[in-house]
Amino acid sequence: MEILRVENLSFSAGEKTILENVSFSLEKGQLMAICGPNGAGKSCLLRILKGLQRPKEGRIFIEGEDCTRKEKTRLLKTGLVFQDADVQTIGETVERDISFGPENLRLSKEEVRKATEHVMEFFDLQPFRKRGPETLSGGERRKLVIAGVLAMDPEIVMLDEPFANLDYRGVQTVLKAIVKLRESGKTVLLVSHEVEKFLALCDSTLIINGGRTVFSGSSEEAVSHFKENGILQPRGAFKDLSYLEEES
Ligand SMILES: Nc1ncnc2c1ncn2[C@@H]1O[C@H](COP(=O)(O)OP(=O)(O)OP(=O)(O)O)[C@@H](O)[C@H]1O
Ligand SMILES: [Mg+2]
Repeated sequence: MEILRVENLSFSAGEKTILENVSFSLEKGQLMAICGPNGAGKSCLLRILKGLQRPKEGRIFIEGEDCTRKEKTRLLKTGLVFQDADVQTIGETVERDISFGPENLRLSKEEVRKATEHVMEFFDLQPFRKRGPETLSGGERRKLVIAGVLAMDPEIVMLDEPFANLDYRGVQTVLKAIVKLRESGKTVLLVSHEVEKFLALCDSTLIINGGRTVFSGSSEEAVSHFKENGILQPRGAFKDLSYLEEES
C-alpha cells in the first residue's frame, strides 16, 4: 500500500528556490533513504512533510488522502526527529521527556503511561527512566529523542541526520533502533549522507541536489549517482552490516 506520495513539490524562501518539482512515493512499512549534499533541501523537505511549512506548489498524499493543505493531519501522521535532536529533549527525566508528546495529543493519563512504557521498553530505556536527558551519552540521547517521537505513534517516522556526531557505538545503537522500528512495521524516511552506514537496509533511495530530485529508485542503482551529487561513495561491500550484530 502506498503510504506517502509527493508530487512536484516546490518551496521558496523569498526569491530563493529551495525545492523544485520534488516527486517520489513510498510504500507502507518501507525504509527510504534521502541523500544529497549540504544545502540540497533535505531538511526543508522533511519540515514541509511534517506540516511545519507550507509548500509553494505541489501535492502531498498520505494514505491516499490529499494532505497538502492539512498541516494538522501531517503533524499527527508524521514524526520528525530533528537534525539538531539534542535540543529536542525538554523533560527533567527520560520518563517525563517521552510522555510530553502523548500528553500534547491529549491522551488520557493511562494511555500516556502505556505509550511511554511501551517505547521505553522498545528502546531499552527503562534503566534511564529517572535520569536527566543531559546525563545520557550522545547515542542514548538520540535514542531517547526517537522514542519520544515514536510515543506519539506516527505512521511515518522521519529521521534527519540521526548519526551526526556519534561514535561507532552510538551509530550502532541508533541503527539498531531504526532496524527495530522498521521491523515493527513503521514507514521510515532516513535523511543522511553517511550512506555506507545504512544503505543496505533501505528499500529505496531518493537523491536530491540543488532542491531537485536527481534520482529515485533502488539503493543499488543509487550508488552510481552518488559521486556526481557530492555524496561519499561507499567503499566496496557497503552491503556488509555484520557490525550490527556485534555486542555493544
Ligand atoms: N527559511 C529559509 N530562508 C532562506 N533560506 C533557507 C530557509 N530554509 C532553508 N534555506 C536554505 O535552503 C537550502 C536547503 O536547506 P536545508 O536545510 O534543507 O539543506 P539540507 O539538505 O538539509 O543540508 P544539510 O545537509 O547541511 O543539513 C539551504 O541553502 C538553506 O540555507
Ligand atoms: Mg539538513
